[in-house]
Amino acid sequence: MGKLDGKVAIITGGAGGIGSGMAKAYVKEGAKVVIVDLNEETGRAMEKELQAIQPDSLFIQADLTQRDKLKDIITKVIDTYGRLDILINNAHASRQVLIENVTQDDLDFSFNTGFYPTFYLMQAALPYLKESKGAIINFSSGAGINGDVMQSTYAVAKEAIRAVTRVAANEWGQFGINVNLISPIANSPGIQQWKKDQPEAYEKMLNNIPMRRLGELEEDIGRVAVFLGSEDASYITGQTIMVDGGATKLR
Ligand SMILES: NC(=O)c1ccc[n+]([C@@H]2O[C@H](COP(=O)([O-])OP(=O)(O)OC[C@H]3O[C@@H](n4cnc5c(N)ncnc54)[C@H](O)[C@@H]3O)[C@@H](O)[C@H]2O)c1
Repeated sequence: MGKLDGKVAIITGGAGGIGSGMAKAYVKEGAKVVIVDLNEETGRAMEKELQAIQPDSLFIQADLTQRDKLKDIITKVIDTYGRLDILINNAHASRQVLIENVTQDDLDFSFNTGFYPTFYLMQAALPYLKESKGAIINFSSGAGINGDVMQSTYAVAKEAIRAVTRVAANEWGQFGINVNLISPIANSPGIQQWKKDQPEAYEKMLNNIPMRRLGELEEDIGRVAVFLGSEDASYITGQTIMVDGGATKLR
């Protein structure tokens, strides 16, 4: 018996990084996982890996910045499986720029890859999550909570995601839907790229983690996502769960 047996989950950005770690953890607990990603090559490879454990897993190639296509993702999942239990809004890309140099394009890039897909997928998923009394897991960041330098475009989009998560928790609790956030630190391609771009900031971040290591994609972040998507977490909603080795303590 898996903790997610019979459940259907969408994971955006599921072809790589934390998304792929969660996808692996999910199929091992019996979930049918739909990964949605821009990257066709890694998406197909991950689909194969997931299908070896859970044959009912699926990859949908999509660019989440195409706002008018977001509803189609939910429609395809409903047409395929007839239900949706868990929506994980994980994908987010951004650029590191000092505030004085930020352009409208930089801001749009962060909101278009992170905030808008999260918002509109939540909206499109609502009727089906009402039926399943499902769960939403969104992604925030210590960069937003702490206001990390050069991260303004990313930080504001992440805090906007946190805000709508709290509102949704209040609006949708009556339907038995729980809506939470994971704020992770994990060893993904995204963080490896950041290490290359800003080695000093990376070292500082690492030294600030009490556990003195980066999180593991599947074992550390994926397992918490399993918990938040399972019945075990059904009385937790509107919360930011710091899965970051203790780097940030919420008060
Ligand atoms: N890794 C960390 O330590 C860390 C820290 C704080 C927050 N986060 C957050 O955790 C989440 C996952 O981070 P990660 O480090 O695994 O990211 P990542 O960059 O390693 O992977 C992101 C995935 O999203 C996909 N993607 C990017 N843009 C897309 C688009 N427009 N449409 C569809 N797919 C797209 C990529 O192809 C990739 O597979 C993000 O929300 C990130 O902001 C991560």
